Amino acid sequence: MAVIGVLTAGGDCPGLNAVIRGVTARALHRGDSEVVGILHGWEGLMDGDTRPLDRDAVRGILARGGTILGTSRKDPYVHGDGYESVKRTMLANGLDVVVVIGGDGTLQTALRLADEGLPVVGVPKTIDNDIAATDFTFGFDTAVQIATEAIDRLTTTAESHNRVILVEVMGRSKGWIATYAGLAGGADAILIPEVPVPLEEVAAILRRRHRHGHGYSIVVVAEGVEPPHKTKRPKDIFGFERLGGVAYQIAPILEGLTGFETRVTVLGHLQRGGSPTAFDRVLATRLGAAAADLAAEGRQRVMVAMRGPQIKAVPLEEGCAEVRGVDPELFAVARSFFG
Ligand code: F6P
Repeated sequence: MAVIGVLTAGGDCPGLNAVIRGVTARALHRGDSEVVGILHGWEGLMDGDTRPLDRDAVRGILARGGTILGTSRKDPYVHGDGYESVKRTMLANGLDVVVVIGGDGTLQTALRLADEGLPVVGVPKTIDNDIAATDFTFGFDTAVQIATEAIDRLTTTAESHNRVILVEVMGRSKGWIATYAGLAGGADAILIPEVPVPLEEVAAILRRRHRHGHGYSIVVVAEGVEPPHKTKRPKDIFGFERLGGVAYQIAPILEGLTGFETRVTVLGHLQRGGSPTAFDRVLATRLGAAAADLAAEGRQRVMVAMRGPQIKAVPLEEGCAEVRGVDPELFAVARSFFG
């Protein structure tokens, strides 16, 4: 009987519970493994904070946002001494393998622990959709849906008042949410870190729209675009800058260049909360089930990934290799609708 530990670490994301349910239900359905939930991410693995997960423990959570296991930004290499600090919990719970559900920072930590001997199966998670080796991450579709609904609502009020509205979305250093939500919401311009566009060019787009009788505009701004004014931001324990609010710097510049009243809406953590979309529930469930299969079969140092219509096992280092940016061809399509 294999004993599979499962933890969620780093920022939360819609679909985490669907993965936990997928791992647990699949492992129990197989009949050759059992599952132990590790609470509050790596912190629980360091502190021995665990609870058994049976089928009943994961009923009714498929559609629920957040994570029933809790999460944290504690890290065994920052707040402990790596593998040494998690060994005790592994032994005390008889864990054969840990399914680690996390973004690139968490997966990097998982890889380091794997190098020291921890058996790990990774599940990529982030609304940012920026993890290499997988076509999509769960949570992204939900974030795009929320951002698109916001754009739709902001469009009608922008139109009523003849305003320019900047809608700032998350995505950290990449513009996936901005590009998809901008395309889906018919944005008049999209600013992403991967393709810097001078604000004079954006202003020209807005002026042209207004000349043609459209007295309002929606500009989607990815939180990771270069701020016009140098800004010192705090960093989290993985060294990632805490972003948010760049649109407040851009708005007065655009207003100055165009003379059009310009307002800002920052969507922030709204994009991470609440129920996952059907697409994310299915993707998260499939990833969880695949991770349980790999764990039960004794595979380790691998990550489950969406490759076209299939879920595949890829080496964990492939998922950590780079932070994946928006496909330039996709952005070129989005750009043809500006203005
Ligand atoms: O990586 C997911 C994400 O939501 C980013 O889009 C955002 O920059 C960051 O996490 C926010 O992190 P926190 O919740 O720690 O402020």
